Amino acid sequence: MKFFIDTANLSEIKQAMEMGLIDGVTTNPSLMAKEGKIDFKKHIAKICEMVPGDISAEVTSLDSEGMLKEGREFAKIASNVVIKCPLTLEGLKATRIFREEGTKVNVTLCFSAAQALLAAKAGASYISPFIGRLDDIGQNGMQLISDIVQIYENYDFETQVLVASVRSPMHIVDSALLGADVATIPFKIIQQLATHPLTDKGLDAFTADWKKSGIK
Ligand code: E4P
Repeated sequence: MKFFIDTANLSEIKQAMEMGLIDGVTTNPSLMAKEGKIDFKKHIAKICEMVPGDISAEVTSLDSEGMLKEGREFAKIASNVVIKCPLTLEGLKATRIFREEGTKVNVTLCFSAAQALLAAKAGASYISPFIGRLDDIGQNGMQLISDIVQIYENYDFETQVLVASVRSPMHIVDSALLGADVATIPFKIIQQLATHPLTDKGLDAFTADWKKSGIK
């Protein structure tokens, strides 16, 4: 399972890279906006230099023509840029054209298996089901991952399931059990994945015993 980091923050990306756990990065307009008055293309270029894997940069146009114009500019930034298009009919139209041009697309804002089926048919490289936002409204985000994995297996679709809107370490474990290809994870949850109270307790005991022992 690949791990992407779900952030546009360069410091978080640097720290996660140093952990040696990161295969790519996803950004979205809200994450970019958190970084203040940055130059979008320069910021994406910096991320692409820091991380050798796929870096998702999201279009903000709502019509396919606008998406194609933006995405073609983003694709010039670096060879590892993946264009993120919304799961709308316009987004799917743009996805098909990007696919024919040899540009990878991450189709985002997916909330149903039917939508995921359309994204695969349009030739998306990644589908991003937002599980946390489904859980937030009382629906079962993980069931959606299970359904999409099953449908893609049934037809040998090449589109990779990229679990998005992750809210807890269990989302990652459950996605891994279902065979999702990628999870995009906020920095805080990458840290939480490594943490267990019994590890901390055990380490404290080992450290105390070692200090008491006088061994040199
Ligand atoms: C990543 O591709 C998505 O944009 C992101 O995971 C959404 O997460 P959120 O629901 O926490 O905003």
